[in-house]
Amino acid sequence: MRMTWLALAAAGVLTAPRWLPEQVVALRVKVFEKVNGDNAITFPNATVGPDRFREVYGHPSANGRSKGAGLSDLFWYWLSPGPEVHQEHLEAGPRYDDVARTTLALLAGPSESFATAASRCARRVLDELVPGRVTLVRLRDLAMPLWAEYFYELVFGEPCPRAGRELIVAHANDVVTSLKCTGLRHPRRRAALTRYLATRVTEVRVALPASLSAQEQVHYLQGTFFNTAVVQMSEAFAHLVLALAQHPEVAERAGHDDRYFAHVLDETFRRYPLFGIAHRITTGEIELDENTTLPTGSVLCFSYPDYHASGYAEPEKFDPDRWAHLSAKTAHHIPFGIAANRPCPAWRISPIALRAATREVLRRFTLHSTVAHTRSLPHRGPCLLVRKGQSLPVTTLALIGAGLRLRDRWEDVWRSVVQLVLGTAMVLDARRLRLAERYFATHDTHGCPVPHRSEVTR
Ligand code: HEM
Repeated sequence: MRMTWLALAAAGVLTAPRWLPEQVVALRVKVFEKVNGDNAITFPNATVGPDRFREVYGHPSANGRSKGAGLSDLFWYWLSPGPEVHQEHLEAGPRYDDVARTTLALLAGPSESFATAASRCARRVLDELVPGRVTLVRLRDLAMPLWAEYFYELVFGEPCPRAGRELIVAHANDVVTSLKCTGLRHPRRRAALTRYLATRVTEVRVALPASLSAQEQVHYLQGTFFNTAVVQMSEAFAHLVLALAQHPEVAERAGHDDRYFAHVLDETFRRYPLFGIAHRITTGEIELDENTTLPTGSVLCFSYPDYHASGYAEPEKFDPDRWAHLSAKTAHHIPFGIAANRPCPAWRISPIALRAATREVLRRFTLHSTVAHTRSLPHRGPCLLVRKGQSLPVTTLALIGAGLRLRDRWEDVWRSVVQLVLGTAMVLDARRLRLAERYFATHDTHGCPVPHRSEVTR
């Protein structure tokens, strides 16, 4: 009897990489739903299928961003300091317009200059960080200094000093690590960048939003350019290069064919959208049909992975060629959000900069990776870079590949447990702090302080 139990326990442990991570992720999702307490509605669903997804997402009443959702407390927690002036989380109004105008001014310019800057930063970082013949990297870690330098140049119009790069990377890394629940937040790391940016804020290339205080201007820069921009581009770059590493025939063609590269990028964004869920709070009713109306204050969650997986043959397959017969405009494809409801302001420059930086990688290295490629990329993209002109014996490559896969599978077991524990701790901490709820208790949706209730009744 005892032997049977032991054998069962041993089998459970040995097969853990197959079943445990999936179970733990499902449990984490349940914990998040329970603690957030919102009765959120996720689209597409049985009532509103993929064919009406954009209609609801783009409805004029689907325009509340932060006020009134427990989910906002969680996002504000992850994005702080300064979530109240992060463009993504500002409510519509003059402040939002002022901030959005500034972001667009910083992202304006000729395509060529965005490509040249990305090539230059990629060359510099690759030459410095990958000098050897064969190097094992985590792609997201390699990407962070690259995009830190890029956005520093874009914001300040001059090369990024080493100290600045280190602070930006430490901050962006901290945000994305905690967002993925693979680590906790480190407010001191974030504060170090805030202090640094405060000394540089007068050097920004364009006028900063006049409706923000000096401290808020620093937080705006930190949140939009040294968090969101650096994190999103690093994740996108890691997904793209990992996909190329796992599809060598695609990498070969993408290195010289621009039209094909655009298809590879679309397929990468389709298969691995950077947003899992974007949420909105309704500021008016939305009538879905004669029997169903979404009341004001509903929390709507738009699921990018579900939408991107609908309406395609073999949606799980990574197949850039499908885009030869599809239009990104009419397909179920919204990598940068939807035009009618606050799309990403970097939708134009991101593909240009990604192509330029990726070409620098493809020019230098052949890529190899055998790890699992999932949307959330918690392993940060382990990948072997072999310098062009050098080659490894096939058996050595096969052995490294097998080792990488094995390590990844076992890391996944440990990581999924860590994510469950840290994720739960952070969700509870965010509930305790209630950053968004407390802010809106003392400010209106335009960011103006509102009198305390006792002052009104006095
Ligand atoms: C490949 C890279 C990127 C992808 C795939 C991406 C994707 C997205 C998506 C899907 C949204 C809309 C979310 C929603 O509807 O709530 C969004 C919003 C946003 N993105 Fe990006 N993004 C990328 C890069 C960047 C960069 C480089 C910046 C830097 C400035 C940026 C800044 C923003 C901001 C500020 C918003 C909020 C827009 C608003 O509410 O007005 N993103 N992004």
